[in-house]
Amino acid sequence: MGRTNELYERARKVIPGGTQLLSKRPELFLPGEWPAYFRRAKGVEVEDLDGRVFVDVSIHAVGSCPLGYADPDVERAVVDVIRAGNMASPSGPEEVELAELLCELHPWAEMVRYTRGGGESMALAARVARAASGRDLIAFSGYHGWHDWYIAANLVDGHALDAHLLPDIDPSGVPESLRGSIVPFLDCDRETFDAVVARHGERLAAIVLEPARYGEPPAGWLQHVRETADRLGAVLVFDEITSGFRRTVGGAHLELGVEPDVAVYAKAMSNGYPMGAVIGRRGVLEAAERSFVSSTYWSERIGPTAALATIGKLREHDVPARLCATGERMRAGWRQLASEHGLEIATKGIAPLPTFSLDAGDESRAAMTLYTQCMFDEGFLAAGGFYASYAHTDEVVDRALAASSRAFARVREALDSGSARQALRGEIAHSGPSRRAQ
Ligand SMILES: Cc1ncc(COP(=O)(O)O)c(C=O)c1O
Repeated sequence: MGRTNELYERARKVIPGGTQLLSKRPELFLPGEWPAYFRRAKGVEVEDLDGRVFVDVSIHAVGSCPLGYADPDVERAVVDVIRAGNMASPSGPEEVELAELLCELHPWAEMVRYTRGGGESMALAARVARAASGRDLIAFSGYHGWHDWYIAANLVDGHALDAHLLPDIDPSGVPESLRGSIVPFLDCDRETFDAVVARHGERLAAIVLEPARYGEPPAGWLQHVRETADRLGAVLVFDEITSGFRRTVGGAHLELGVEPDVAVYAKAMSNGYPMGAVIGRRGVLEAAERSFVSSTYWSERIGPTAALATIGKLREHDVPARLCATGERMRAGWRQLASEHGLEIATKGIAPLPTFSLDAGDESRAAMTLYTQCMFDEGFLAAGGFYASYAHTDEVVDRALAASSRAFARVREALDSGSARQALRGEIAHSGPSRRAQ
């Protein structure tokens, strides 16, 4: 074990869970081997603490760097603002420029508030939706962060979040008094949505969902949700933390033709520097002034500066079109290779963030881990989910696919000879916190 993973052993003694973000736990990818830490990252490359360099065709910083790691233009803008002073008693002017730009990109939106992360942006959106509507109950589908308003869904039977986040999330620490304050419906599913509406109707403060994540929404779905929100007087919130600034410069909803009352951005909008934005109609966002919403570092300058530089570059180079083409190139390659090697795969996800899973019955998870192990041995970080960035050139994708072909061949061979599990050097990749506890 090198320094990189020794440090992770130390981390697990002093940091509950080992990492700050669940999706960075190495055991979710290749237990004992996937690098837990990096020293340098540039473009598509990541260097670990042992000097090993990998090409990252995996979650690519969980989609937070659509221009690639350490983009020089964003870096330059950030360094300039650091030199000028990041914090002072007054606010930085960039936050006004960014608010005006976000409203220009989304003509339905009139006001903007900021945070520095996705989950806290969603907590802010939930607060203003409740304050503006004067109601408490929220209907949701999808993942929206770690805060009480959302995890409260599991207070009812412990499984409301199974289909949206992970199985068996324990809501301990979330006040029991929030029981019943949030109810789920399934992604793009009229039946469960209509049932929630029939049961709770005009008690709903907000309807919260991702407009497009695992694929394109079925025809009429978003229009149906919009009409229902209007009829009930509920605030429609689109969580665009993952879908935003990837398929178009702004929210995916701009292409899907349905306007929400509030849209929430983070991650991709600032290429690796902390930033979150809640944009919305005046009647909803103004509630942030009545209800106390305020935080010291929400007024620093790096976040909005990075967002302005990132959005400027996304626009200038029409990066979203590239991300979609790159994601589709990868998806088409996986499909073709799987059929060449006689493997069953299922692919999901919108164009710029395709995913695939191998279907090999009881051996499925072992087979995916073996794929990751083979890619790792060829110098790639790869695990079935791919967040395309501007730094992923066609040449990088083609090299990753050539390595995937050899990895699929190895998986086929292992399955034919009886067991993918036996071909692994370590454990099968874990699937989440419940697995980790075992
Ligand atoms: C749709 C969605 N909402 C909320 C979040 C939480 O954002 P953060 O991890 O920045 O708190 C994420 C993060 O993956 C997300 O994809």
